[in-house]
Formats: sequence, C-alpha cells, structure tokens
Amino acid sequence: MTILPTRDVCYGGDWNPDQWPAQTVAEDIELMKEAGVNLVSLAIFSWAKLEPKPGEYDFAWLRDIMDRCHEAGIFVDLATGTAAPPVWMARNNPESLPVNKDGVRLGFGSRQQYCPSSREYRSRSKALARALAEEFKDHPALVMWHVNNEYACHVPHCYCDVCEADFQDWLRDKYGDISALNDAWNTHFWAQVYSDFDQIYVPRTMPTIPNSAQVLDFWRFSDSQILKLYLGEAEQLREVTPGIPVTTNFMGEFTYLDYREWAKHVDVVSDDSYPDPALPGAAHEVAFNADLMRGLKGGQPFVLMEQVTSAVQWRPQNTVKRPGQFELWSLSRVAHGADGVMQFQWRQSPGGAEMFHGGMVHHSGKKSRWWSEVVKLGGSLSNLAPVVGGRVDAKVAVVVDTDSARARHLSCGPNEAPALFSAARAWHRSLWEKNIATDIIGVEDDLAGYSVIVVPELFIDYPKFAARLQVAAENGAHVLVTAPSGVVNPTLRAVLGGYLGSLSDLLGVVVTDYAVHSPDAAKWAQSDLWMVDPRVDRITRAVETPGVVDYHDLEVRSAALVRALEQVGSPRPAPRGGVWGEYVMATKEADQFTDPMWLNDEVEVVAQFAPESDLGGWPAITKRKVGKGAAWYVATDLDAVGRDALVRVLAAYGRVDMSASNLPDGIEVVKRGVVTFYLNHSDRAVQLAGVTGFDLLSQAEATGHAVVAPRSAMAIVSRE
Ligand code: GLA
Ligand code: ZN
Repeated sequence: MTILPTRDVCYGGDWNPDQWPAQTVAEDIELMKEAGVNLVSLAIFSWAKLEPKPGEYDFAWLRDIMDRCHEAGIFVDLATGTAAPPVWMARNNPESLPVNKDGVRLGFGSRQQYCPSSREYRSRSKALARALAEEFKDHPALVMWHVNNEYACHVPHCYCDVCEADFQDWLRDKYGDISALNDAWNTHFWAQVYSDFDQIYVPRTMPTIPNSAQVLDFWRFSDSQILKLYLGEAEQLREVTPGIPVTTNFMGEFTYLDYREWAKHVDVVSDDSYPDPALPGAAHEVAFNADLMRGLKGGQPFVLMEQVTSAVQWRPQNTVKRPGQFELWSLSRVAHGADGVMQFQWRQSPGGAEMFHGGMVHHSGKKSRWWSEVVKLGGSLSNLAPVVGGRVDAKVAVVVDTDSARARHLSCGPNEAPALFSAARAWHRSLWEKNIATDIIGVEDDLAGYSVIVVPELFIDYPKFAARLQVAAENGAHVLVTAPSGVVNPTLRAVLGGYLGSLSDLLGVVVTDYAVHSPDAAKWAQSDLWMVDPRVDRITRAVETPGVVDYHDLEVRSAALVRALEQVGSPRPAPRGGVWGEYVMATKEADQFTDPMWLNDEVEVVAQFAPESDLGGWPAITKRKVGKGAAWYVATDLDAVGRDALVRVLAAYGRVDMSASNLPDGIEVVKRGVVTFYLNHSDRAVQLAGVTGFDLLSQAEATGHAVVAPRSAMAIVSRE
C-alpha cells in the first residue's frame, strides 16, 4: 500500500496551524514547499477548536487549511483530534477523567486525560470522528486517517469504578466460571479466593506484592479497552471513507499495548521514535524499532510518524543530534522499511509543554542550523521513490512476544526485568552489527523462509509455537532459544516438572533450577552484613560469596564456537554469561538431581559454566540436531562476544549472507527492494570497494569505488 498518489516517500510532520496567526500559516505553506513537504498530520490536538461546545462543531478553519494544502500539493494525514478532550468534558463529566493507582483522579491541564472506559469519552470521540469523516470525505488532500495519538502513552491504566466493573465483565467473558479464575490466578495463596466476579478489584495500591496474574490480566484488559476506543473511531471512518487508510501512531518497544494485535486493525503501521543521541546504541535503536514495525504486518512498509529534527525537551538533559544525524537516521528508517519520514512537529511551539522540543522550523526560523538539514532531507527523500513499497528480504528472524515481556516484568522474581524486549534487542543488535538482515516476528507469524530463528526470553510457554519451531528445525532451521523461557503459562502459573515446558522436547533439555547472580556489592557495602573484619571475624572471614558479580564465566567446548571466537578477535576472547544462570539437564534423564548431571548423546554441550561459580561444569549452551536443522539453548544472558560468536556459527549453518559483516567500522548496509543503502554512522569518510550502480541520493554513478562522507549515506540502485 502506498500512501501518496504520487508514490513518493512521505515527508512532513504534525502541523498545528491553529496555534498560529494567519500570516504564519501562509509562511508555513511557502516553507513547506521549499523543504519538499508532501504530507502533514493535521488536527491531532485540536478537539477544543473543532468542537468548542459539546455537539457544536467548527470545521471551517480546518477546511481552509486543507484547501490550502491541496493548492500547494501537500497531502493530509487527518487526525480525529481525540487525544486531548476539551475542558468542557472534564467539567461536565468529571468521571471521564482517569484515576491513578492511588485513587487520585487526574486533573485537566495537560493531555490524554480520559478514562478508557468513559462512556462520555467513547461516544463523543466516535461522534467527532464521524463528523470529520462526513465533512472531509471528498477532500482531495485527504490520504490517511490518524486516529487519536499515541494511545496509552501517559495513561495506560485507569483504576476508576467504571473500569473496575468493565474489568469484572472482561474476566467473566474470559473465564466463564469463577472457579476457573481462582485456579488461573492461584487465589488460594494468601486467601484471595473469590466467589463471584463482582468481588474483584482493579489492582489499586495494595499493602504489598499483588497477585501478578491479576495484574497481568488487568494489563490485558486495559489494552483491550483502549483498543475498543480505537476501533470505535476507525469504524466510523471506514463506514464513510472506505478507501482511505487508517492508522494510529505506535511507540516502538511499548508493551502496555500489544501492537501485534493492534496491527491487525490498522491499514498502515506508523511509529514514533526518539532514540537518545547521547547513546552510541541509539543508531541500533533506530534500526531495531524500524524492523519491529516492519514486522508487525508481515513486512509491509510503515511510516515513521514522529521523530525530532534536533532534540526533544522531555529528558532531563536533551542531547542534540550531531550534524547529519537527522538525515542519516531518517534514511536508516527508510532502508529498514519506512515509506514516510514525519516529524513532531512542523513548527516549534511558541509556548506550553513542548516549546523547547525541536521542530522542522525552529523558533529562530530559517536562521536555524536545522532548517538546512530539513531542506536537505526533503531533497534526499524526493529521490527515493524507487524504494517505496520495497521489501527487505531476511533469512533470520528474532521473535518478540508482548505478553511474555509483561509476564516476566510482573512476576515477582526470579529477578527484576523491565517490560521490554531487552533480550530480543540484544540479539538483534548482534545481528545488526554484522549487517545481517533480520525480521522481528511474533509467535503466530510464519516461520517458513527463515534459516535462523532466535527466540530470546520467551517467558510464557506456548505449546503450539513450540510445535511450529520443531517443524522449522526439521526443515533445516537453526532455532536458538535463550533463558528464561517456558517458565509460566499464559496466566502466570509456573510450569511444573522443569522449565522450558513444551520447548523441552525440541531442545532436548529441561531446566530444573535458576541461579541468579546479584552484582550489587556497592549497595551492600552500606550494610553491616557485608562487613568482615578479617582480623577478628573468624567465621565470616571464611565465608565466600561467588554470586556477587554480574557475570558467569563460561568454558567453550564446541570446536565451531572456538573457531568463531577466533574470528571475533585475537587473542581469542572468552564469552561470558550475565547474571542469569541455570541448571540444565538432558530431558530424558532428568528424573532426579545429581551433581554433576551430565547430558545424553543426543545433546551436545557447546559451552559450560566455569568452575568458579556453583554452576561449574553445568551446560550453558546446548545443541541438539533436529531433522535437517538444530535446536540450540542458551542458559544464560550471554554477553556481546558470546552472542557475536554464536551468530557467526548459526549464520554459517543457516547459509546466511555475511558478506557485509566485515565492512569498515560504522558502515551499516541494508538492502530494500532494488536499493542498497550504505549508511556511515562514523565521523570518518569511508571508502567502499565494489559499489556499482546509481546513487539515488547524490544522483551520480558509483563505479566500483565509493566514498561515504561522515554521518551520511548512499542509496545504490543496482544496474543488473
Ligand atoms: C509524542 C507525541 C507528540 C509529542 C512528542 C514529543 O511522540 O505524540 O505529540 O508530544 O511525543 O516528543
Ligand atoms: Zn476508568
């Protein structure tokens, strides 16, 4: 699906002309033309102006703006404006305001102040969407609908009484019978047994650790409640303008909403992405988020709906992008599957919460250093039409699962984990550092076509997915699973009889126990329990605490991994595990613990824990041959060296193209459709041999020898 009838890459941003006098609006249109803007997102926060009094709409000003856009050849991604309800709703219907975990009703004066269950908000947001659709259905500038804005970014949960009643209904639907819920949540622990659904609370602030299964279901309920808001509006739009694609902007690695589910209901995936330029890993975050978004609809191109030109305003210190980085990161998104590069926002606000957030036009106007970068990027993107609609072809997949990230975060222990795809990001990074094209997929996506499938930290046991991985391995894929996986069922009950659950058969191993290291010695140094006076503490001076480190040393046993490590560096680096370790046994022999427990012949020990820890001698990485492929298990959070070496091994077995993995430092290569992007993230000009074809960006021929300037790119169309 292409968004613009011209089939160009979309370029523009959120435009809030309602903040500005007529003269500025006229100037904006001229500046947009100069910058090559072809799409603007309008009316995202305009509800108060669109509906100044309940039920009284004023669309004349918006029509005027849309007409001007059309005259100027600028298309419109029209928002439904429902992300910030006007003050009259708060005053007339105070119950529409959300309630936080402590029972505090949130006030008016910022944005997103609505309860997702509010009947008033629901009906008025739908009505506004309908009215806008009726008003603008035939407008020639309209090319996309933008429902709401960043659902759940500030208020992922509401703890009001209406939400509580709806939560009870949602649970009734899900479990049918209260005894099923009691069983699923294991409520006999701590006397939480319910005899009716209407006794159940939303998980407000409690005396101590809540029932994590209850909280997980509450997260799912909140997600589905917010999705209903989106669907309510989208339905209105689709009835009136069936041909206009509908989107709502996602936020990358965000697990309050399950975007894989949401993606089924949007026509175009769009994403907001604000990596922190202070961090070297930001260059990877750009690529990771893009691959994540491309994966949500089976490889369909997405739109980068928001990024900033220069710097945001919401971090404590808002590091500014380096010269060229705005374009470089934009092109990286395009290379990884974006058909649009949009900014928040067109013109930097004159006041309010975001006045110091960068825009395409800064407070200083065309005098700003950013203006030239904005114009330059517009020119570059205008040359990239051959990329639009193109696909990235990947032989490697990394699997992410929102519910697993949530479950891992919400279960109290074995150790703290954010509700993010951290392990998937780490493995993706190792692949990206080697320029290996990678798809990010979900547990329901098709596995055919991948010769390497990485399954990092799939906390929930999914028997159907395990069966599909088995088939993929039999057909030749190398499946790599990392710990902790298969630890709980979908309602957060522990898998009994050994973790890995249904993955055990495939991997040939079972996990009997976890053994987590605790590196926080500095914090403990404050505690008298940490103090040992070796002159007098006769007993404690003899006590060893080998677990107070943030790693597990590993010993490599497989020749293939030794060779891969030799390629990583000389002298050969030693891989390490992180804080996570566990006891792994061969499934079939694991009826009783004996130390040390060895594996059967079916399973090769690729690496084992070194003797310094109590796990000494136990397997840390295993491999089992399965049909034409193999199943690998990593029983620790492997460090970057270990991941890099293992990626080399898997890529070799999986016949994955590694030809671009040894290019000069800082060079990212991505092939999308007919175009190969060379992105130089470094501060040095880099010479590349063997680059032939036409560079869409410089509009010049590359004849086998190319120089990519610092923090810039080439986009080569091959002549073959
Ligand atoms: C989000 C919002 C925008 C703006 C930016 C600022 O992405 O959608 O309205 O607040 O953050 O970074
Ligand atoms: Zn509520």
